[in-house]
Amino acid sequence: MGNIRIRLASKSDIAWLLHLELSTFTADSFSKRQIKYLITRAKSTVLIARQSGTPLAAAYMLWRKNSRLGRLYSIAVAPTARGLGIGASLLNECERQAAARERVGIYLEVRADNLSAISLYRKHGYDIVRELPEYYGDGTDGLKMLKMLAPGPELPA
Ligand SMILES: CC(C)(COP(=O)(O)OP(=O)(O)OC[C@H]1O[C@@H](n2cnc3c(N)ncnc32)[C@H](O)[C@@H]1OP(=O)(O)O)[C@@H](O)C(=O)NCCC(=O)NCCS
Repeated sequence: MGNIRIRLASKSDIAWLLHLELSTFTADSFSKRQIKYLITRAKSTVLIARQSGTPLAAAYMLWRKNSRLGRLYSIAVAPTARGLGIGASLLNECERQAAARERVGIYLEVRADNLSAISLYRKHGYDIVRELPEYYGDGTDGLKMLKMLAPGPELPA
């Protein structure tokens, strides 16, 4: 899909981000308050992908102070815009953001039954590093996935 532009979200995007949440996640969706907090606080980055000015997808990254890893907290593409490569473009941008912050990798949690998201992550080089039994509120298992972006520090001889 051509002409996709990705930029940082601002407070004026809150209403659309909330709409995207509610149209995407039935459980565990972000509240308006959470979205506002994630946009305005320093330790997170919220990205929005647009085409011709129309917002189509969003990704949330968290940057914990003492961690060398970034966390992909959430990624969602509007239901009518899925399967067009937008999720993949956003994920690439998340990785660029992590590298710019000198994070050596990205981790994420995903529902074990979310096959399309797991496939997206696998294709981008994310490996399953841990199973998370009954991780979600409804009892669904989770998976922790990790992608290293750069070689780690050399071990002392
Ligand atoms: C998961 C999601 C972000 C993928 O975004 P997308 O823009 O639809 O994905 P893309 O078009 O960039 O596809 C990239 C890859 O994802 C995987 N994928 C995407 N849709 C898929 C589907 N319906 N079934 C299986 N794999 C799928 C494929 O590996 C695909 O690569 P391919 O096109 O070479 O086969 C999107 O489906 C979504 O928003 N889902 C609901 C929210 C969600 O589950 N977020 C993840 C929470 S952890």
